[in-house]
Formats: sequence, structure tokens, C-alpha cells
Amino acid sequence: MTNKPIYDELQGKFRAHFGRYPEVVAYAPGRIEVLGNHTDYNEGFVFSAAIQFGTFFAVAKSVSMGCRLVAGDLMREVTFSADDVKPPPFGYPLSKGGSDTWQNYVKGTFAGLAERKPPAHGFDGMFLGNVPLGSGLSSSAALEMSTGIALAKLYNIATDAVMLAKIGQNAEHTFVGCKCGLLDQISSLAGQENRLVKTDFRSVSYETVNMGAEACFLLCDTRTKHALADGAYNRLRESCEQAAAHFARVLRHPVNAIRDVSMTEWAIYKRGLPEDVANHAAHPIGENERVLKGAKLLSEGNLAGFGAVMFDSHESSRVLFGNSCAELDAVVDAAKKIPGVLGARLSGGGFGGSAVVLVHSRDVETASAALASAYAATFNTPCDVSVIKPAAGAYLV
Ligand code: GLA
Repeated sequence: MTNKPIYDELQGKFRAHFGRYPEVVAYAPGRIEVLGNHTDYNEGFVFSAAIQFGTFFAVAKSVSMGCRLVAGDLMREVTFSADDVKPPPFGYPLSKGGSDTWQNYVKGTFAGLAERKPPAHGFDGMFLGNVPLGSGLSSSAALEMSTGIALAKLYNIATDAVMLAKIGQNAEHTFVGCKCGLLDQISSLAGQENRLVKTDFRSVSYETVNMGAEACFLLCDTRTKHALADGAYNRLRESCEQAAAHFARVLRHPVNAIRDVSMTEWAIYKRGLPEDVANHAAHPIGENERVLKGAKLLSEGNLAGFGAVMFDSHESSRVLFGNSCAELDAVVDAAKKIPGVLGARLSGGGFGGSAVVLVHSRDVETASAALASAYAATFNTPCDVSVIKPAAGAYLV
């Protein structure tokens, strides 16, 4: 079992706190985004992977409608009634409001399931995981998907991956205030050991792809604040939607999303859009083309080519989309000069968090050390460099 010590700790804490063992436990991992940035809500393509860090959610029925929910790391408990689960009352963005904001991910997921089948009883639940918080590795999706799988089992609600992912996404939209796409949830559910997940977010269908034994990922966590929920992410999404509406007016073929616009069409028809909106739109358009190019390169075994496309992706984030930052740029710039590094880019929403670095497996140690020291030379503090292992997706324990 992945992360067995955390599972054991959770069992012990659950027993000590609630005086019994859980009836159901589910596990869901975090994710890295490898190629395709802000393309998911534009109905485009992404390469991602589930990672070796994740969250366990343990739960047992209660005899009343009362719910007790405990964050197992803090051992803090919140209580609520199963027939009265509402989003927090403080409007968008919610991330800075209220206390114990972790409860919103669980409540939002529970509310989504309760819409499918009204609950007949409450629950005692506790979660514990090791996905670093605020590092852009989707600890939130790991919590939503472990919650979703465990509660669907406890309440005997039939689900499938896409339904669960949408329930998690809706929890983010309505209980957290981040208008995210489906990438984090799908990656957490669909991951496979040593493989990438390639998703088409128009049909929400995915396949897994082998990168070969020579490919290895390093994660450089800049430990800078990543501010997805405080408005920047949502504003970029609005820009993309504004651009899609413009292209729908000026192009002859149907445009339902940025996915339907090519780079050539963008260059010809962007006139009429504010410059920043046009630039924002160019990013997911270019990213979609890069994911398709990356897929072809991988199928030809061309890892170096795939890495070069990752570098292009970061440049597009930096110059066009504006979702990079000095710390992430420093990692990527340093990576370009380190032997064995094939590619690097920011991973996830942006504005801080982590960069993902593709490195030849024989150079992992030297590249890790070189990245840490190059970062320290610029910022007087090292960034955390760790090896990421594409891992299996969520499951019922
Ligand atoms: C965050 C969101 C995802 C996706 C990425 C950027 O992780 O939650 O839906 O949009 O950013 O690609």
C-alpha cells in the first residue's frame, strides 16, 4: 500500500478520537502537471501524473444526522448536520475567509454526493495525508477525491471517475471559490505507476502513456505563495472566456472554447481584443498545440524533444499568461544550464508553488544538487528538490 505509515497513523488516531475503527478508508494522490497549462477549462489537452504523496480519508456511519469531521494533522474537529451542508457565507473569494477552511473541500464533496442521494445518517470522518500544502501539487483534489470515494462507498452511491471529478470541481467552485478545471481531480483518479495521464478535457477521456525508463521528474518547490483562490486564477479564466467569445464572433467555424482556435487564427483574428486578453488566450492555444506535439515526440521516443516543449510552455506562461514568478523563472533558467536536464516548467495554476523538471534518470542526483545550489545562489535559501514518481491513482483501501 502507498504511504502505509500514514494509513496506520490515521487508523490509530481515528480509534483514539472516535472510540472505534473506520468502516471505510479511501486514498487519493496529488498530481504534477507535465505539459498543458490552463488548458483544462478551455476544453484542451494535458499531460499530468498522479504522484507518490496523497491523502487517506477514513469514515464510519453515525447513528444521528450529526457529522464530526477531523483534520488528522491538526486534530481539529468541526461538526455539522448531514442535512444542512451549505457553502460558507462569505462570498468569493473564500480562501481568506473563515476558519478551518479545509472543511470546505470535504463539505463541498459531501454536498455533491448528497444531491445524488439524500443522506439518511451522518458520519464520523478523519483525514490525513502527506501532499505538501500550497506547493501546487493539488492537496485539495487529493482530499476531495479521497472524501468522494469513501463517502460514496459509505452511503452506497454509484459513481464513476468523471462524476467524482466533477463533484470535486464543483466543491472548489461553490465551497472554495476557485473556478478550476478538472485536471487535478482526473489526474488523482486516473494515475498509473510510471505512466503519464493524457487527458482530452472536451470529451473528458484519458489514456496513460509510458515515458520510458530514462525519464525522471524532479520537483522544485519554491515555497512561494501560490494564490489560486484569491482571484488571479479566476481572472485568467475570465480572460480566456472573453477571448473565446470574440473568436466565436469573428471565425466562421463554431468556437465553443479556446480549444477551437488555432495559433494561425489567433494571429489573424486577435484584432479587437485588448492586448492582455489576446496574450492570455495565446497561452492555452499554444499549450494545446504543444501537448499534441509532445505526444508525437513521446511516441517517437524523443525525450529531449519533449523536454524542449516543456521549456517553451514555461516561456509562454512567463511572457503571455503572466502566471509565473521570479522564483519559478529562476528554477527554469537554472535548469536550462544543467547537464542531464531535458525540460522544465511551472506546474499547475502558477504564481508560485513548484516547477517540474524532466531529467535523464542517470543524472538525477547531480541535477538535484545543481538545481538546489543555483536557486540558493539567487535567493539565499534553497528550494526543496524531490524526485517525483508517477504513481497509481485513487482507490478504496
Ligand atoms: C490548477 C487548477 C486546474 C488547472 C491548473 C492549470 O491546478 O486546479 O484545474 O487549471 O491549475 O493547468
